[in-house]
Amino acid sequence: MNFDAPTRRRGSGSTKWDGMAPYLGIEDPDALPMWVAQMDFDPAPVLTQAMRDVTETGQYGYFTTLPQMFESVRWWCETRYGWTPQVDHMRATHGLGNAIGLCLQTLSAPGDEVITFTPVYHEFANKIRRNGRVVKESPLTIGADGRFALDLETLEGQMTGREKIMLISAPHNPAGRIWSVAEMTAMGDFCARHDLVLISDEIHADVIMPGRSHVAAMAAIPQHADRLVVMLAASKTFDIAGLRTSTVIIPGEATRERFDSLHRPLDIQPNLAGVALTTAAYSPEGAAWVDQLCGYLAGNAKVLTEGLSAIPGVRVMPMDATFLAWVDFSATGMERDEIDRRIKSEARIVPTPGPSLGTGGEFCDRFNIGTQRAHVEDAVRRMQAAFADLQ
Ligand SMILES: Cc1ncc(COP(=O)(O)O)c(C=O)c1O
Repeated sequence: MNFDAPTRRRGSGSTKWDGMAPYLGIEDPDALPMWVAQMDFDPAPVLTQAMRDVTETGQYGYFTTLPQMFESVRWWCETRYGWTPQVDHMRATHGLGNAIGLCLQTLSAPGDEVITFTPVYHEFANKIRRNGRVVKESPLTIGADGRFALDLETLEGQMTGREKIMLISAPHNPAGRIWSVAEMTAMGDFCARHDLVLISDEIHADVIMPGRSHVAAMAAIPQHADRLVVMLAASKTFDIAGLRTSTVIIPGEATRERFDSLHRPLDIQPNLAGVALTTAAYSPEGAAWVDQLCGYLAGNAKVLTEGLSAIPGVRVMPMDATFLAWVDFSATGMERDEIDRRIKSEARIVPTPGPSLGTGGEFCDRFNIGTQRAHVEDAVRRMQAAFADLQ
């Protein structure tokens, strides 16, 4: 697979490329989008074939293939993550945003608090608020290794009894911190002490840097299975988010019944193409493609990290997973407006603004490196020029 091959996304209706003007007001023809978490590569051949098969049969009516998708999810979890979910514990949803909304509605009540570890994927807080729940931030600290670290001790002292859910991204978006078994255990024990549901959003479980491996919540803390909700999708890894197909796995019967109390009456059923491509993705061919992708993205991470770290005061957090780099500008001593001006107006780069990811993101931005190496090199050149006076 040649990940360097250019693809044409501008004009395709892609949010990442064509959403810059309507959503962000950015009209520059050479603006470089490094925001929303979608990639720019040609699809894995196994997906192209699966889509061809769909169109060749011409059968777009009701379908019987959902059990095959769940079977492929089971196979993927077993071979890639080291745990074997039960197919009857799986539910299909229209993306994980949909799944998070369903969980918030069924596993908490309006006004209840939901714990998140910030800075984190900005939509966690948006979805919590949109569902009438309250965001309880537990800011991450930076460990001696320069990576995010949990601060459960401080959180313990701040508990009010109104918390019902802990919502985590595992690996963490941004920067891909892989929570260790010890950290997962600490989170599970914390949830048990406070009777919380632990939602482990594992949408980023596949893009893992060489030498690392995903720590799945169910593999790490099976003793907490009854309070766990695991969320998976092929959408980030294989860049098929537009097909709005994902899987929620709920091992605990009581938790599953609560989820079903809304999932069933809303008649949430997946779409045929999403099921076909997810099934194709979770296969040996899909796995081989992902392994190549991870190697390529590790190269991108190196280029970005070396390039931006050469700018005094700019720090790129070490990445263990994901294609979402976390860049800290605080040591430049610049005001936020000045950082924005240099990145957006001078470099004409569009990252996801750090402040939108919650406490801890004030002087940071998230850079999506899921693109051709040439774009990452271009981004480095533009950034070095925009901050050249610091050299
Ligand atoms: C941690 C996390 N969860 C969920 C999503 C969105 O998932 P979906 O497109 O399936 O709603 C994203 C997208 O970037 C994400 O990073």
